[in-house]
Amino acid sequence: MTAPRTPRIPYGGDYNPEQWPQPVWDDDHRLFTQARIDTLTVGVFTWSLTQPAPDTYDFTALDRILDRAAAENRQVCLATGTAALPPWLARRHPEVNRTDFEGRRHRYGQRHNFCPSSPAYRDHATAMAARLAERYADHPALLAWHINNEYGGVCYCDLCAEAFRAWLQDKYGSLDTLNDAWWTTFWSHRYTDFGEIEPPSALTEHWRGPDHTAFQGITLDYFRFTTDALLDCFLAEKEVIRAHDPDTPVTTNFMGMFRPLDYHRWAPHLDFASWDSYPPLDAPPTWPALAHDLMRGLKDGAPFWLMEQTPSTTACRDVNPLRRPGELRLATFQAVAHGADAALYFQMRASRGACEKYHGAVIGHAGRDDTRVFREVADLGRELEALGDATLGARTPARTALIFDWDSWWALEISDGPSRLVKYQEVVHAYYRAAREAGADVDVVPQTADLTSYDVVLVPVLHLVKGDLAERLEGVAARGGTVVATFLSGRGDEHDRAFLTDVPGPLAPLTGVRVDEWDSRQPEFAQHIPELETEARLVFEIVQPRGAEPIATYGSDFYAGTPAVTRHAYGDGEAWYVATALAQPGVDQVVRRILARHELIGPYADHPTVETATRIAPDGTRLLFLLNHAPEPARLTAHSTAIDLLTGKRTEEGEPLTLDPLGVAILSLLS
Ligand code: GLA
Ligand code: ZN
Repeated sequence: MTAPRTPRIPYGGDYNPEQWPQPVWDDDHRLFTQARIDTLTVGVFTWSLTQPAPDTYDFTALDRILDRAAAENRQVCLATGTAALPPWLARRHPEVNRTDFEGRRHRYGQRHNFCPSSPAYRDHATAMAARLAERYADHPALLAWHINNEYGGVCYCDLCAEAFRAWLQDKYGSLDTLNDAWWTTFWSHRYTDFGEIEPPSALTEHWRGPDHTAFQGITLDYFRFTTDALLDCFLAEKEVIRAHDPDTPVTTNFMGMFRPLDYHRWAPHLDFASWDSYPPLDAPPTWPALAHDLMRGLKDGAPFWLMEQTPSTTACRDVNPLRRPGELRLATFQAVAHGADAALYFQMRASRGACEKYHGAVIGHAGRDDTRVFREVADLGRELEALGDATLGARTPARTALIFDWDSWWALEISDGPSRLVKYQEVVHAYYRAAREAGADVDVVPQTADLTSYDVVLVPVLHLVKGDLAERLEGVAARGGTVVATFLSGRGDEHDRAFLTDVPGPLAPLTGVRVDEWDSRQPEFAQHIPELETEARLVFEIVQPRGAEPIATYGSDFYAGTPAVTRHAYGDGEAWYVATALAQPGVDQVVRRILARHELIGPYADHPTVETATRIAPDGTRLLFLLNHAPEPARLTAHSTAIDLLTGKRTEEGEPLTLDPLGVAILSLLS
């Protein structure tokens, strides 16, 4: 199953009319019509209304909300509402409250805080999902199911400890296998009974917080267990929904690059992916783009939904800058450019009280339609309406892949040595950014992905190499492609046990290098890399070429003159190895050289503020998105004759093509 079929990009977002008296609903719908809003995500936090007591269900409010939506010709993404507990449930079953990393059993409060192993939570949540599905499966407004909300967080309670032991028993079968995987003879940890195993927390294997563990193997398994425990909650709800409603697509809203959950383990179970985009402050545009491409990669390149973004500002940060005029439109079209088939907000109307009352909303507290934010939302609504279905279902024809691997992310960041300062997302982003700014479309894929259609495969900090990945990467190079691996790749197996071969382990034959030593330094220390006229920091692996040729070298210290970047001819192609954290200009040079070899540099790669992205519509139309991230106009020369779907304007190849400040064009290419 895929995302719901719609005649245009679903536009709207989280809507909580249950917080308001009915006359406000009239205003809401009048304003929605004005802004061309056709999709409402409802019921995300309604559990204490729909089940006010253990044996009392009350769907009056939801009935009215859905009926009103249907009467207004709007469609509903219906949440099961199981992410925020009703107070009575936490009081009656204290074990539904999570136990934190320090071992403190929490009491009732907040949201996103249930114990995933608690039968009381699962039974009640599943019962709620079943009732909702039974009641609304055939409702004319129903477009999609939205299970729970932003699953995440970890529990360390006794129920989770028991569930973890069962999960381990299932995974390893025997204690011998487990002891070997975790290398427990180190520090006298050989387990003789599954009952002896404790979740890795501040009370057990950890010190200085969740990233400092005595045993990487157990901590990695707890990440995986938590991923699966929360996934089981999702699956239990999905199963009862399916029993009543075989047809409506089901999703849950993810959070992009969210470390605690391995979304690749979830992906097969979603009908379509959706996610909430709140980029970090001052993030370059390639940061949300990377998250979009990661989300598109979950379902093998199928379009995803942008389930939430703020129309103006967040509230949860220390400072919450406004989206400048035009930035919302640009961010929305950026999402569409990367594969979003829906554009939804959090939130439709600002809540009056509690911690999100200052969070941006389509409709503010005064309920006006003449605010800047409302006008921008409404203008965008009209544009999306006019765009119709032109982009829906379109796929990205990427010839470059970047391997993104949660296991490697975890392993890298819970490792003692070589460096606590290397951050997975930062290195991944540097390579992604280099490729994107050179104009290449990039698929961000799991390490199990089929790589046969790619010319270039980027493998940044792939700490753990699992399964047959090394052979598949060799296959890419053998048939003429290029693989780029970096420092701290190929260090451990799936349990983070070191390979008993030369570094980079299974990647050594492909990369043609051998690494015996590595120097890890304070961030203030920089190595000059003369050939690239740039710097490198944090980790300096000392490379002995074993078939590879040096491309760039270290400028100083006892390893001065040894390779920092190498290239190895392999079959009809090449494998590059970057042995250090090059500054962005260094990464850019390496990646551009490789892309150039495969003619993958985009037509506007010389315009640093212009982002391009390609999608191929189901009818074969090639769409080129141009996004100007600068507050000044961008003056380009059209590389192809095309019609801009947003303006209807035709530009001939070779003619000037100007993008407004923060402007967007969606070119339907004719030549
Ligand atoms: C998340 C949640 C929403 C809301 C927004 C605020 O994405 O899903 O309920 O809290 O953040 O940014
Ligand atoms: Zn628990």
